[in-house]
Amino acid sequence: MRIRPYASSDLSTVVALFTASVHTLGAKHYGPEQLDAWAPRPPDLEAWRQRLEPLRILMAEDALGPCGFIAWRDDGLIDLLYTAPRCARRGVASRLVQAAEDDLSASGVTELSTEASLGAWPFFETQGFTVVEPQTVTRRGATFTRFLMKKENAA
Ligand SMILES: CC(C)(COP(=O)(O)OP(=O)(O)OC[C@H]1O[C@@H](n2cnc3c(N)ncnc32)[C@H](O)[C@@H]1OP(=O)(O)O)[C@@H](O)C(=O)NCCC(=O)NCCS
Repeated sequence: MRIRPYASSDLSTVVALFTASVHTLGAKHYGPEQLDAWAPRPPDLEAWRQRLEPLRILMAEDALGPCGFIAWRDDGLIDLLYTAPRCARRGVASRLVQAAEDDLSASGVTELSTEASLGAWPFFETQGFTVVEPQTVTRRGATFTRFLMKKENAA
């Protein structure tokens, strides 16, 4: 498993990985209308380009290709974390969170946060995050429960 910085040429790869991850791994926790609202098909690549622009992004890949990506803000918010279905439960997200945490620590950021999906909050607990509060958000007409979670970084 290799972790490397995102390049602008990775845009369609990242968006395809996101879409597959949501519609496969997210299907245990959300219904079809929610999944379509979360990850519309086809995706809007220009909207994604703008969404990713201000974020720090790392990609994980193995011999077969992309396995996951993480995107975070300079203030410590982990904004996006998605593992490819074929790579699930192999430690990919753990490696990506650790890499983001190391980068933020080096910048002196002492608190990490995320807004975790129903499927992701148990993962974030394994990484030392704790739930601050449940949140209800509406995206493209669908309502989602998620959890604001935080972690004190050992910077
Ligand atoms: C949540 C997600 C990122 C986890 O990715 P992953 O690469 O499979 O995670 P890891 O292999 O690093 O998991 C490490 C540990 O976290 C826990 N964990 C991971 N996924 C879990 C799940 N779905 N349910 C319960 N615990 C989970 C387990 O303890 C796991 O260790 P184990 O496999 O030895 O039991 C992935 O399932 C995903 O992309 N989900 C869909 C999209 C999503 O919800 N993203 C987050 C948006 S906030």
